[in-house]
Amino acid sequence: MTADELRKKYIEFFTSRGHAEISGMSLIPENDPTVLFTTAGMHPLVPYILGEPHPAGRRLVNYQKCIRTVDINSVGDTSHLTFFEMLGNWSLGDYFKKEAVEYSFEFLTSEKWLGFSPEKLYITVFKGDSEVPQDEETALIWKSLGIPDERIYFMPREDNWWGPAGTTGPCGPDSEMFIDTGKPPCSKTCRPGCSCGRYFEIWNDVFMQYNKTENGGYLPLEQKTVDTGMGLERTAAMLQGKHSVYETELFAPVISIIEDITGKSYGKDPEADHSIRIIADHIRASVFILGDERGVKPSNLGQGYILRRLIRRAIRHGRKLAPDRNILKEPVLKVIDIYKDTYPVLLEKQNFITDEVETESGRFLYALKKGEHEFEKMLPNLLKNPEKIIPGRLAFKLYDTYGFPVEITEEIAGEHGLSVDRAEFEGAFKKHQELSKKGAEKTFKGGLADNTEIVTRLHTATHLLHKALRVVLGDHVAQQGSNITGERLRFDFSHPEKMTPEQIKEVEDIVNEQIKRDLPVTFEMMSIEEAKKSGAVALFSEKYGENVKVYSIGDFSKEVCGGPHVQHTGELGRFKIVKEQSSSAGVRRIRAILEQDL
Ligand code: ALA
Repeated sequence: MTADELRKKYIEFFTSRGHAEISGMSLIPENDPTVLFTTAGMHPLVPYILGEPHPAGRRLVNYQKCIRTVDINSVGDTSHLTFFEMLGNWSLGDYFKKEAVEYSFEFLTSEKWLGFSPEKLYITVFKGDSEVPQDEETALIWKSLGIPDERIYFMPREDNWWGPAGTTGPCGPDSEMFIDTGKPPCSKTCRPGCSCGRYFEIWNDVFMQYNKTENGGYLPLEQKTVDTGMGLERTAAMLQGKHSVYETELFAPVISIIEDITGKSYGKDPEADHSIRIIADHIRASVFILGDERGVKPSNLGQGYILRRLIRRAIRHGRKLAPDRNILKEPVLKVIDIYKDTYPVLLEKQNFITDEVETESGRFLYALKKGEHEFEKMLPNLLKNPEKIIPGRLAFKLYDTYGFPVEITEEIAGEHGLSVDRAEFEGAFKKHQELSKKGAEKTFKGGLADNTEIVTRLHTATHLLHKALRVVLGDHVAQQGSNITGERLRFDFSHPEKMTPEQIKEVEDIVNEQIKRDLPVTFEMMSIEEAKKSGAVALFSEKYGENVKVYSIGDFSKEVCGGPHVQHTGELGRFKIVKEQSSSAGVRRIRAILEQDL
């Protein structure tokens, strides 16, 4: 079964069981300052998991593009990916554990669907701890379906729990499904969750049944939610009897191009294989970040920085395999070709994607040259060192400032009879990684976002701003992007020229007038067609026939949006534009804040 067929079957299975198919969202979350990328299918659904009614109902299904960079150091093994697709089904206060597990079991094992042998299925459930009891209920459901005790493992919170760590909100135990690959166990203690590759995790059913409160207690939730995520690439690999995601049709054609370019054969040399897998993964993730509906360019900030690292790391591993070849271009085109039917936006943005990859490669190669130059300058001093050792901190500086890989430093050093103090380098590197990991964990925690009050207020202010811009500048103004942090809103919109100070003042005045009017903020559910007819402003990327939520702010603005919003504009405070600048050709960018007093 191909990944395409699997995607279709999953949607078919759950729609035939009363789930509405909803569109997957952009990889770049809108209005959520807590994460850089969409990290799971549930991520765009957070407001609904927190209790907002979803326009499509209580049973939902979709496939969603995801990026997880917390696993970036595991990429290169046989199962970890930075970009992946997640198949998901949700119950928002409808069915719970019994049906969720029964659906999972039927879809996995029925001959009509995936047809995995039930004997290959291994299960984990939450073991319980001092705060929350063991999830006996889920284990019993698996047993009633014929999974024996010896294939059900009770695991601690770090393995079988989903939800906000350290903050408040819905959370609960989960139950993970693994396929036994048939590889011999690595040790006596080998079991699902072991990294040796014998058990392949393919699906996770999360049961959100608790609300973690301010004082750290866990109270039962009123609306219990099921959130599931099946890894498309991993499941396809298991269905095809492959040992790794890289052997599926999603990767094999890309790897074959990398083999052609580098002259290496995949499957011969573990070190080369590791590099080939990193190149294939990072190119695919880069294509999806650039080719997203809200695609970003490489930069030193946020998503752009992750993209930069992915491209540079791919180049670095490419140079390891074949120092003089441009490794990226052909594989990039192949990735677009593989996904063009499922994600047509990739084809629309093909030129942008290839141009940006090329430009970034150029920049990196230039930085490498500068690094080499810097090295030459340091050389006379280094040669005076009687031990002929380059201090690790210097190698780290080259790495940190110029993106200069330590392997290249070693290579050049070797030509001059020098070696690098690897231990000191690794020490500096580790310290740096720990620091950035701490930062990254903060940003990538994923799960349930903090819908803080200020973000909600800025979100409502964004709607007022959008409308005021259309009043002042004209109906050609359309949203190109929106980003909200705890401090400010940022709004990109189509407009050909710089706004005048008078126009900026007029927009501010209009927004503040609507705030003074204390307009009610309300929403209605309707079909896309009705929303269009009602004059609501939207990107309309939803599928035909899908229901949407239309938010109205009094008689002033009407916009398709998931929420949440304040109830009355009077709650916003005073609106102030702090910056108006160009964002890209034909697109302006406004940053604005809300001050406490009106
Ligand atoms: N949200 C759950 C996960 O990503 C399903 O594993």
